[in-house]
Amino acid sequence: MDELFNTCLMGIEDRILHLRTELERHNRLYYTDAAPEISDADYDKLYRELEELEAKYPEFDDPNSPTKRVGGAPLDSFQQIKHLVRMLSIDDVFELKDAEVPQAELIDFYKRLQKNLGRENVAVTVEPKIDGVAVSLVYRDGVLSYAATRGDGTTGDDITNNVRTIRSIPLSLAGSFPTLLEVRGEIYMPNEAFAAMNAEREEAGLPTFVNPRNASAGALKQLDPKLVAKRPLAFLSHGLGAYEGPALASETDLHDLLDSAGIPRNRPVLIAHSLEELLAHVAKIDTDRHALGYGTDGAVVKVLDRAERDKLGYTSRAPRWAAAYKFLPEQKETLLKDITVQVGRTGVLTPVAELEPVFVSGTTVARATLHNEEEIQRKDVRIGDTVVIEKAGEIIPAVVKVVLEKRPGDSKPFSLLDHIGGVCPSCGGPVSKEEGFVAWRCTNFECPAQAVSKIRQFASRKALDIEAVGGIVAEALVNRGLCRTPLDLFTLDRERLATLNLGSDEEPRRFGEKNAAKVLEALERARHKPLDRWLFAMGIRQVGESAAKELARLHESLATLANSEILPELRADTRPDAKKRNAKLVPYAISADVAQVVAEAIIAFFDSEAGKHVLERMTELGIDPRSENYLPRRDEADLSALPLAGKTFVITGTLSMGRDEMKRFIESKGAKVSGSISAHTDYLLSGEGGGSKRDKAEKLGVKVIGEEELGGLLG
Ligand code: IVH
Repeated sequence: MDELFNTCLMGIEDRILHLRTELERHNRLYYTDAAPEISDADYDKLYRELEELEAKYPEFDDPNSPTKRVGGAPLDSFQQIKHLVRMLSIDDVFELKDAEVPQAELIDFYKRLQKNLGRENVAVTVEPKIDGVAVSLVYRDGVLSYAATRGDGTTGDDITNNVRTIRSIPLSLAGSFPTLLEVRGEIYMPNEAFAAMNAEREEAGLPTFVNPRNASAGALKQLDPKLVAKRPLAFLSHGLGAYEGPALASETDLHDLLDSAGIPRNRPVLIAHSLEELLAHVAKIDTDRHALGYGTDGAVVKVLDRAERDKLGYTSRAPRWAAAYKFLPEQKETLLKDITVQVGRTGVLTPVAELEPVFVSGTTVARATLHNEEEIQRKDVRIGDTVVIEKAGEIIPAVVKVVLEKRPGDSKPFSLLDHIGGVCPSCGGPVSKEEGFVAWRCTNFECPAQAVSKIRQFASRKALDIEAVGGIVAEALVNRGLCRTPLDLFTLDRERLATLNLGSDEEPRRFGEKNAAKVLEALERARHKPLDRWLFAMGIRQVGESAAKELARLHESLATLANSEILPELRADTRPDAKKRNAKLVPYAISADVAQVVAEAIIAFFDSEAGKHVLERMTELGIDPRSENYLPRRDEADLSALPLAGKTFVITGTLSMGRDEMKRFIESKGAKVSGSISAHTDYLLSGEGGGSKRDKAEKLGVKVIGEEELGGLLG
């Protein structure tokens, strides 16, 4: 029997190991080789099977299982790790502006190599310098053992849990691997992801990252791997640290090893055998780098042969066999013809420079964000100015400075509020600037510029779950004039929905009967969704999923929430930590543990014209969302209004409901319930039995009542 059991277990362990190897292989095919063999759905199937087996048989757990990429718990701080081999930096070699000889420092570097090695044709590699964060990945016997940041070069932070979340980093190696392999490389944020994240931050009124390196470093500093997993980070290797395995004679051998082990590496790596070739390769990388998909600000030059590297050795900071050549960021002067104000999908008003088009770092630039009003003032940018532009992190067009000598006489400072005439340029609605934020925002719930994003949020799964209303449908509904606000969804009929054109006028694509029916059913269900879903759906600032739940716990209905106020003693709280303190909404949210900012956002919303209009329309539509988790918690302030206010009860004997249930019921009517009788007790609620407490009550002159009399007290 035992044997059979063991054989079964062995079979299971084999299956688990097989699944891990397979998943890791498919991961590699996808991320490193860009040549997937199976569909996402098939990958998910294997993944789920492994997850289920691991849950059932925890004895086969492995922190490097592909299912454990986001498994780590949040840390208090990072452990320190001593590097096996010192993690050095490289000496920078600059391109000097207006230098007599271009690339003079680079030429000097190569000449030094020639001199120190005593030969003319030193072979060097030339590759793009990745704008990322240096990391060391240590693989022992083919398995990721730990990952660390450079730190001071001798010790760095242990960021293993964060690194596991990065899918392009293999957790175990393929092929025949060395016993010890320390891979050095960069963790970076791909250009597209960087641009999207900055756009999102701008929308949210948050400061943007200056370059992808800061964005990656910020992500890796998170102590909670779950937050890191949300950031789109990637990895490319470019070198070797500690190593125990078959000898590697040159960089090319290292590349072969990395390729067979399935570790992604930086490309292209060009090889130069002379100064002329080196200069040509560097120039080529400068022109080609904009198509790389990651930010670069230079080229790294390294001696190819490892024996020659050893001969050259190190200075105290850096190897003598490598140099980082820094490109000058390409800058262009152009005319700033106008400043327009864009309303983002979440209502943030962003000033945008309208430029005379110029070609910079690989693309033609006609517009550049000016971020916000403060930024414009700081740089003193005016319409009609000639400005210098470059791409921030070589990606996002930005105005660097004004060429003051070229300023026309009639230029005038820009004021965002004057420019837009005090109202939202998209809808004419009110705008406001929240304390502590740099951005102005349109606060109109019905602003058409925000319609699509509001409808998407409204219909999303975690909000009202109106399936079939995703981005494309929301866009079509707004563009075809069928919806201006989310509540307009409830005015749609089958006919109009079914004939909705999701395509273009030339190539129409009907939404169709079936989908129309689905939407209408989902809308019907949405009418009866609980209060917290509705609150989240409304997209009120500061009210995310959990704040919505908390608000619903404290309010029975939308109407009671809309009429709540912040307790007076908290309203005037201007102490610096006021935002962190809990605010209370009365009269219905007496012991509300709602953050002050949330409470203020709720009040502001329901006080606004837009908020009032929403309430009116909901009444017209006959929608009255109710809380499903309403749980009144009482404290002093509202007790007086309740029938048993100020009374103390003790419960004894067998009653028509359980003791706890009765306690909650009595408390909900404003009374306190105590466990033992004293002179302060007002009533002993007694059912069948309950002898000793009755005696004590009688002795102390405490009134003994039954359930019927309790009913009497409640009126
Ligand atoms: S080779 C001894 N190659 O830039 C160090 N480094 O500014 C040899 N970097 O410390 C490093 N891209 O963290 C190398 N293609 C590349 C690189 C690269 C980015 C980083 C690396 C280095 C820093 C120096």
